[in-house]
Amino acid sequence: MSQIKLKVTDIQQLTAQIKMFEFKSADGGQLPTWAAGSHIDLQIGDHMRRSYSLANKPGDTERYVTAVLREVDGGGGSKHMHDEVSIGDELVIAEPPTNLFPLDEGAKRHLLLGGGIGITPLRSMGYRLRELGVDFHLHYCTKSKEETAFYDEIVEIFGKDGVTFHHDGGDPSNGIKLKDVLEVQGEGQHLYICGPGGLINAARDCSSHWLDGTVHFELFSSASTNQKTAEVELSEEGDQPFEVELKQSGISFTVPADKSIIELLWAKNVDVMYACEDGWCGNCKVGLISGKVDHRDEFLDESDRDNFIQVCVSRAMPGEKLVLDI
Ligand code: FES
Repeated sequence: MSQIKLKVTDIQQLTAQIKMFEFKSADGGQLPTWAAGSHIDLQIGDHMRRSYSLANKPGDTERYVTAVLREVDGGGGSKHMHDEVSIGDELVIAEPPTNLFPLDEGAKRHLLLGGGIGITPLRSMGYRLRELGVDFHLHYCTKSKEETAFYDEIVEIFGKDGVTFHHDGGDPSNGIKLKDVLEVQGEGQHLYICGPGGLINAARDCSSHWLDGTVHFELFSSASTNQKTAEVELSEEGDQPFEVELKQSGISFTVPADKSIIELLWAKNVDVMYACEDGWCGNCKVGLISGKVDHRDEFLDESDRDNFIQVCVSRAMPGEKLVLDI
């Protein structure tokens, strides 16, 4: 896996807590291309990796643009980005942008639902949807206009009729009426949700009657937030502790019988994306370098099982050590 060096070429304070970062290739060349919904994994310091969705026009190989929310209780990645990173600094991504939240470009209609910093991948989707000339609408939920990142750009990209802003003043009961918005699924309509866990869960509940495969969601969260919300008991009777080595990070640890790999990653401040924590959404897919896996997910194809692992649920086979590509 080849690393890509990026140079910070612009930083703008979008709201009191959100900064925009623009990166270009450090060597002045073209960056790898990417599609709407993609994210980059920035290496921060020696042991932190943070995933940030790309927000600019998909396929732009001149620059990558993202936005970062300062997370007061976060694991340090957002604080580092806000306080330590300046224009001209160089940062590294371990691989080209990855897309776990793609648009279904065959769909007739697209409904986008963004909460707070969750606007970033939806902004790039807006560019693409406009190019495709299909029916789309964005619901963008924030506390207030002042706390709405990219407000003017969103109006420009989606058009005045293509976006509805919902400002709740900090009280979700004053915000979007999800039951009403999601009650009727238009013919051929897909839903894309990105934002905090509460919004995703509520929207998924309200769209549970939508056709299979038409509701897509993505959650990015810091290590400490993950720890606070990790309520799923993953241990199963008879599970054994096992060793894990993270090849890129140079970290090794033991996963106790009653913990999952992802819980240990959070404890070590190693970020991976996640959503379902139950082995079916695919977000926590990690490369497997060696070791035999007890695969417990419903996401990976047979052909992927020698090379990947879903770290929210899967474990090592008895006596095996797993070496992961992170
Ligand atoms: S978080 Fe969904 S498969 Fe792991």
